[in-house]
Amino acid sequence: SGVRLVKYDGFWFPVRVFRAILSTQKYFKAKHTDIILSTLPKSGTTWLKALTFAIVNRHLYPTDQSPLLTSNPHKLVHNFEYGVYLMQENPDLEQIPNPRIFSTHMPFNVIPDSICKSECKIIYICRNPLDQFTSFWNFLLKNDVGKDVDPSAIDVAFGMFCKGYFSFGPFWDHMLGYWNAHMNNSHKVLFLKYEDLKEDTTFYIKKIAEFIGFPFTLEEERHGVIKQISSLCSFENLSDLDVNKTGNTSIFKNSSFFRKGEIGDWINYLTPQMSERMKELMKSKLEASGLKFNIMS
Ligand code: PPS
Repeated sequence: SGVRLVKYDGFWFPVRVFRAILSTQKYFKAKHTDIILSTLPKSGTTWLKALTFAIVNRHLYPTDQSPLLTSNPHKLVHNFEYGVYLMQENPDLEQIPNPRIFSTHMPFNVIPDSICKSECKIIYICRNPLDQFTSFWNFLLKNDVGKDVDPSAIDVAFGMFCKGYFSFGPFWDHMLGYWNAHMNNSHKVLFLKYEDLKEDTTFYIKKIAEFIGFPFTLEEERHGVIKQISSLCSFENLSDLDVNKTGNTSIFKNSSFFRKGEIGDWINYLTPQMSERMKELMKSKLEASGLKFNIMS
C-alpha cells in the first residue's frame, strides 16, 4: 500500500514509526487525568481530537476564540508514534496542562502498561472498513508517502487490507481488542463508531463529556454549548479554515485530513465484488463479538 510494514505482536506497523511505538511503551507515564484517543487511521481521529479538545477546554475559551480556529487538531492533540515519540525517544510531557489528551493508532494489546494501570480514560473510534479503506487510499495518494503508489492499483491495496496486511491491521483485531476491553470495563474504554457520531453528534458529544468527567450542566445545554461545539468541530467548519487548508502536520498535508467526511463514499471506489468480500470477512471476524456495522446486514 506504499507504506513499509513490520509485524509485531500480531499487527502490522509502519516501519517509520515502529521505534516510536517501542519508546512509547517504554517511557510513557500515564496520569489518572489523561485522555487517550485510540483509532485506526482514517476512522475519525481528527474529528474526535477536535471534539475532545473543545469539550475539555470549553471554559478556557469562548467558541469564537477557540484554538481550533487557528491550529490543526493534530497540533493541539499530540499523537504518540507520529508525534511526540517520533521526535524524541523520551520527550518531556509533564509540562502539558492537565487533562492531557494524546492520540495513538496502537492496538489495545500494544499500548503502554502504564495506561492500563492508571485510571486514565481511553476513547476508541472506528469506522466501517469500506469507508476507512477508501479514506486511507485517498489520503495516500494526496501525500508524499503515496508518491510511488499506482492510483489504478486500488484492488491490490484492497486485497492486502482484507488480508490484514495494512497499517495497524488487521483492522478486525484492532477493533476487537478495544471492543473486548470496553466490554470488560466500560468505565475505562468508550467505544464509538464514526457512523453513530455522524448520525447523532449531540448525543455522543454528551456521552464523551460524561465519560471523561466533564459533563454539561443544564445551564450549558440551555445556552446551546453542545450545539456550538458540534458546529465548531464539524467537517464543514474545520475543512474551511485557512489553517486546515495549508501547511503540514508531521509529513502529512493538513488539507489531506479533510476530504468528504461522509458515510458510504466507498461505493464510488469499490466494486460490488469487493464489498461482498468485505461483508463476508466482517461476518466471519466480527459477528460473534456482537460488534456490528450497517454494511454487514
Ligand atoms: S488520521 O490521519 O488517522 O488522523 O485521519 P482521520 O481523522 O482518522 O480520518 C480522516 C477522515 O475523517 C474525515 N473527517 C471528518 N469527518 C467528520 N467530521 C470532521 N470534523 C472530520 N474531520 C475529518 C475526513 O474527511 C476523512 O474521511 P474521508 O472519508 O476521507 O472524507
